[in-house]
Amino acid sequence: MTKPTAQPVWGELQAHFAKIKDMRLAELFAVDPARAQRYAVQTCGLSFDFSRTHMTDETLALLTALASAQDVEGWRSKMFVGEKINHTEGRAVLHTALRAQTDAPILVDGQDVLPAIRALQAKMKAFTAAVREGSWTGATGKKITDVVNIGIGGSDLGPRLVVKALSQQADGPRVHFAANVDAADLHGALRGLDPATTLFVVVSKTFTTQETLLNATQARAWLVAALGEAAVANHFVAVSTNKQAVEAFGIKTDNMFPLWDWVGGRYSLWSSVGLSIALAVGWDGFAQMLSGAAAMDAHFCAAPLDQNAPVLAALVGLWYRNFWNTPALAVLPYSERLRELPRFLQQLDMESNGKSVTKAGEPVDYATGPIVFGECGSVGQHSFHQWLHQGPSMVLADFIGVKADDLNAPEAHRVLSVHMNAQIEALKSGRQSDDPARVNAGNKPSMVVWMDRLDPAHLGALIAFYEHKVFVQGLLWDLNSFDQFGVELGKKLAQEMLG
Ligand code: F6P
Repeated sequence: MTKPTAQPVWGELQAHFAKIKDMRLAELFAVDPARAQRYAVQTCGLSFDFSRTHMTDETLALLTALASAQDVEGWRSKMFVGEKINHTEGRAVLHTALRAQTDAPILVDGQDVLPAIRALQAKMKAFTAAVREGSWTGATGKKITDVVNIGIGGSDLGPRLVVKALSQQADGPRVHFAANVDAADLHGALRGLDPATTLFVVVSKTFTTQETLLNATQARAWLVAALGEAAVANHFVAVSTNKQAVEAFGIKTDNMFPLWDWVGGRYSLWSSVGLSIALAVGWDGFAQMLSGAAAMDAHFCAAPLDQNAPVLAALVGLWYRNFWNTPALAVLPYSERLRELPRFLQQLDMESNGKSVTKAGEPVDYATGPIVFGECGSVGQHSFHQWLHQGPSMVLADFIGVKADDLNAPEAHRVLSVHMNAQIEALKSGRQSDDPARVNAGNKPSMVVWMDRLDPAHLGALIAFYEHKVFVQGLLWDLNSFDQFGVELGKKLAQEMLG
């Protein structure tokens, strides 16, 4: 457990930065036209292109040396085998076990977690099949046509991202989301729904989150007003670790899908938290998503550091954050279906690495996680891209595109892809002009991801890639990426103010 700044290679990186800081991306391509092939990784049907970053072979060697010095490989193993690397909460971090493709034991406190995971998956599979086929009905015997996922943070953003992203594959009930305690959110979700055909999935790891409990209570009242108290059993299920609180709310434990403390909220969509996803796309689609994520896990565990997509992305992010002083990461998916990705990554990254003390509790003397923001292309081009192109700050941009036109809309697909490539090129090369107002400085870095297609497996791999990237950055910065004590104070004050 060492601050990165205490590693000798940090000084070497500083010296190296001083040497190359005036080198422009265009020059890097001019002296090394093959860099687009060399600074790239293909895995799991995704291609990652890091060539439009201020990286030379020397940079890469120094950054990977930093990753070795921070023992990224050692910590990676600790996470996968179930060591309690979330030391401030005394918890293992095992979202990867949820997508394990074998039953090789993974022990937490001497107990194999796989049997419980398989039992949960069997329960999710049976339940989602029953709802989708119509053998699970509402209280009046009608088939469920609409599902409302009530949750917030990790109990909302992951399922919301995936349900939207897989809308082409969705053939089950329509899934709606209510997260905000502002009544407008639940009212909006319920508008036009029939209580007799609506199923509520109340998702809260702790089952103490005030916003979720209030929304669930309001939803219950809406249902009971129409169908009576007895209807709750057919129309409410819960996802939680907190059996007692679920029972106290009036949901029977038969209708509860468990979760464990070794699944962090922002890493939980692979668990019972993903129930709404499985309801929307079916168990097979959900399982394909798990296997896509498992393929990325395998890549992350096996690929050498300098050819490892999540590790490289983490190192590039650190390079910009700590040496080029970039304050932000722009997430720019060129896919309407990936519109929720920036919001999902905001929580994943900012809640994980928005920290100021090391694992040992010492204050950091270096920048940690960036501000994450974004919007899908090409919509964002017509709002904040101006700032990316002509603002004085340099930010790193992640572009995510989809190769296959699975919407069978060739012209729209071509225009969208061309816009993405045009933005990447404009940021890299800029534009000269005699009129200062028309100059695009260029020399702005980006990482480009192309997904072969947008389906459950590729999406699973993409999300797992980002999870591991954020984890590696936390290791590089010597943070515990798995607690979130910063959010507690506001919750406590609000409770006190509410009396
Ligand atoms: O307030 C932050 C947080 O604890 C997140 O980490 C979590 O995803 C969210 O609240 C929701 O928590 P729960 O699932 O326990 O309702």
